[in-house]
Amino acid sequence: MKHYLSLALLGLLALAACSKPQPQPAEVIPSLKDAFPDYKIGVAVSYDLTRGNDSVAASLVAQHIKNIVAENCMKCEVIHPEELRYDFDQADWFVKYGVENGMQMIGHCLIWHSQCAPWFGVDRRGKPVKPEVLRHRMKEHITTILKRYEGRVHAWDVVNEAILDDGSYRPSFFYQILGEEYIPLAFQYAYEADSTVELYLNDYAMSSPAKVQTYLRIIRDLRQRGLRIDAMGFQSHMGMDHPNWERFEAAVKAFVDEGIDVQFTEVDMSATPTIHESANISDTVAYMAQCNPYPDGLPDSVSVVWNERMTRFLSIVDRYVPHVRRVTVWGVTDAHSWKNDWPIKGRTEYPLWFDRQYQMKPFLRDRLARYGE
Ligand code: XIL
Repeated sequence: MKHYLSLALLGLLALAACSKPQPQPAEVIPSLKDAFPDYKIGVAVSYDLTRGNDSVAASLVAQHIKNIVAENCMKCEVIHPEELRYDFDQADWFVKYGVENGMQMIGHCLIWHSQCAPWFGVDRRGKPVKPEVLRHRMKEHITTILKRYEGRVHAWDVVNEAILDDGSYRPSFFYQILGEEYIPLAFQYAYEADSTVELYLNDYAMSSPAKVQTYLRIIRDLRQRGLRIDAMGFQSHMGMDHPNWERFEAAVKAFVDEGIDVQFTEVDMSATPTIHESANISDTVAYMAQCNPYPDGLPDSVSVVWNERMTRFLSIVDRYVPHVRRVTVWGVTDAHSWKNDWPIKGRTEYPLWFDRQYQMKPFLRDRLARYGE
């Protein structure tokens, strides 16, 4: 009997040992930081994310990213809606989120024709202001914003999208009122406001040789004047049929040969067809179906090509280390991308590095397998 009792006791002890949770090795979650040892991966964040309304995306960013850019909250129409009124609420949330998560922050952007508050270039009658008024407004705008975030924001896109694809100056009101001089003026005001921050030019379609030549000329001019310019930003909004890789790489090389760093600042790649302005829009329903071919998910065949293209893009980036210090993706997951609504509204797009389920795209998993632990 005694024998049976001790056996039962042993059995009970064994059962208890089995059901007691055993210590497990800590789960190792691969981080993008491991896959990109040579440059920082950044992401553009929305107000919603920094405000705490998108906690899954916020923790994904905190896990993988050390560098953030303000997607909209520092643009003139948001931060300086009226001449005598700044609204720092959204930008302050961006900076708070960055500081709390120990991230490097890039301000975007100081002088840009788009998303500029309507008052900026006109007088009370709606007529273009005189050059001295515009100079004063630019200086006041740039100085106020830089001073507010001094010591916290690491760098600024000073002038965005100044040059057209044919290499000529975009005829924005800045150019029409001040001529070419508005670019060095913007850099001068930024440098005078805070000589410690990095200052950038930024534009899209950088594979255009004519555009590259004009930017090289602008950079030489800034340097001759003793002004600070730290890098040329290639926005890198790509598609399934652009950019032309040879010309894209030639553009990167042209800046590196000039002794100026290049960074890739708004990376995304549309998986849907590129919209050409000449498209026939007589049958809107058929046209929309043609423009939005993957509303229920990206077919594997398209996904494979998309992933190959993103790998190709990164192979170019990798060749220019150490002259590339940052690659910033323009949004967190496909669901967050502005491309769902641009250049036409209501498409289901797949341009970013994480899918709608917050999962890494295959090219990133491959990269982690190659470079990560
Ligand atoms: C886009 C934002 O992502 C959208 O949310 C907004 O509605 C429009 O602007 N070039 C730029 C970015 O420099 O600021 C733009 O961002 C995308 C194109």
